Amino acid sequence: MIYRCGACGGLLEVRHDLEALRDLRTPRSWKALFRERLSAIRGFHRSGVWRYHELVLPDLSPADAVTLGEGNTGLYRLEALERRAGAGPLHLKHEGQNPSLSFKDRGMTAGVSWARRLGVRAVACASTGDTSAALALYAARAEGLAALVVVPRDGITLEQLGQPLASGCRTIRLDTDFDGCIQLLQELARLHPLYLLNSLNSIRLEGQKTIAFEILQQLDWEPPDWIVMPVGNAGNVSALAKGFSELRELGILERVPRLAGVQAAAAAPLARAFSEGAPEIEPLVAGETIATAIRIGNPVSAPKALSAVRASQGVFLQVDDAAAADAKALVDASGVSICPNSGVAVAGWLQLVSEGVIGRRESAVVVGTAHGIKFSRTTLDYHRGTSPAGPGAHANPPVETAATLEDLERAAGLACG
Ligand code: F0G
Repeated sequence: MIYRCGACGGLLEVRHDLEALRDLRTPRSWKALFRERLSAIRGFHRSGVWRYHELVLPDLSPADAVTLGEGNTGLYRLEALERRAGAGPLHLKHEGQNPSLSFKDRGMTAGVSWARRLGVRAVACASTGDTSAALALYAARAEGLAALVVVPRDGITLEQLGQPLASGCRTIRLDTDFDGCIQLLQELARLHPLYLLNSLNSIRLEGQKTIAFEILQQLDWEPPDWIVMPVGNAGNVSALAKGFSELRELGILERVPRLAGVQAAAAAPLARAFSEGAPEIEPLVAGETIATAIRIGNPVSAPKALSAVRASQGVFLQVDDAAAADAKALVDASGVSICPNSGVAVAGWLQLVSEGVIGRRESAVVVGTAHGIKFSRTTLDYHRGTSPAGPGAHANPPVETAATLEDLERAAGLACG
């Protein structure tokens, strides 16, 4: 159970034997293998993580895998957004369609499976609400694995709080923010044998990077010019960068997309370091934002993320809550329900297009990280006009009326005259 290098203190990283993998199959044969596994109806290879088993955790035996058939999420074209911005093509990868309704399930199937292989008795994480839901779900599936999650008392939604409770996981609410939770949990893990499944765990990133693989497979291995994603603890952006670069080294990809990491203005240490050209971030105390899942002032994967995004010739940027809320509403109204954190990324795409950083003919995939249904309160506040982000440009308030046919007719807009 180690997460950091004993010499430099940096996070560990899984290194695959790429030479052996290159010898094993040609690029064409890898693609054929992954295509063939798409037809699996059940079992290990049906998972959108384990379909890529050899590139994820080749040492994990399928018998140790704890899987719920995660991944296999939709990739949707967002034509309404394209028309509004006069740019495109734009797709959204809807990771909210995972079993616990967020992208975290990909990393968690890897992390919990590895925990089983290691024979650990207890797994734990600190969370802004989605990692905790995923950990609780997979630990429940693993049977006999104790699970503990630590969350900020006021920093997660009711739906997110209900998830680990329902899974039978010990759920501890602390009077601090995420940064405070993870710091205390790391101290606890030094005293007790807890296997930490935050994104500082390099095994989790191996599962997480399959978002990159699946996007590419869905685009017939034609990479988009840009990948745009919301950034909190910065594990996901580091994982995707790793995934793309491995595919390039295997010859499956010729070029890797540029990465845009978007933060909420209230918690944007990476965007700040990037705009200042600083070599590392300055940790900060995160302010209030509707994007509660990315409300993090001291991202654990910041060094990995800064160098990965810079290497891709990408950018970090920040958007305010009003822009994120309007962007979420636009996507929601196109039939794809996303969370406010994903709204941050969509707003980031709109901003990058308007600034000319993303060209009008450049293709982009935005990673939608969680389902809108986990954040009902934010959605209701927006449409009722009670959002802390201010009045929404696309609000669709509920209509309340007396229970008579006449009133109903009027409320439905069907009354004559
Ligand atoms: N979007 C959502 C919905 C998230 O839950 C998170 C992270 C992110 C984006 C950012 O991903 O941290 O890899 O940069 N949530 C973590 C959690 C921190 O505890 O659920 P990241």
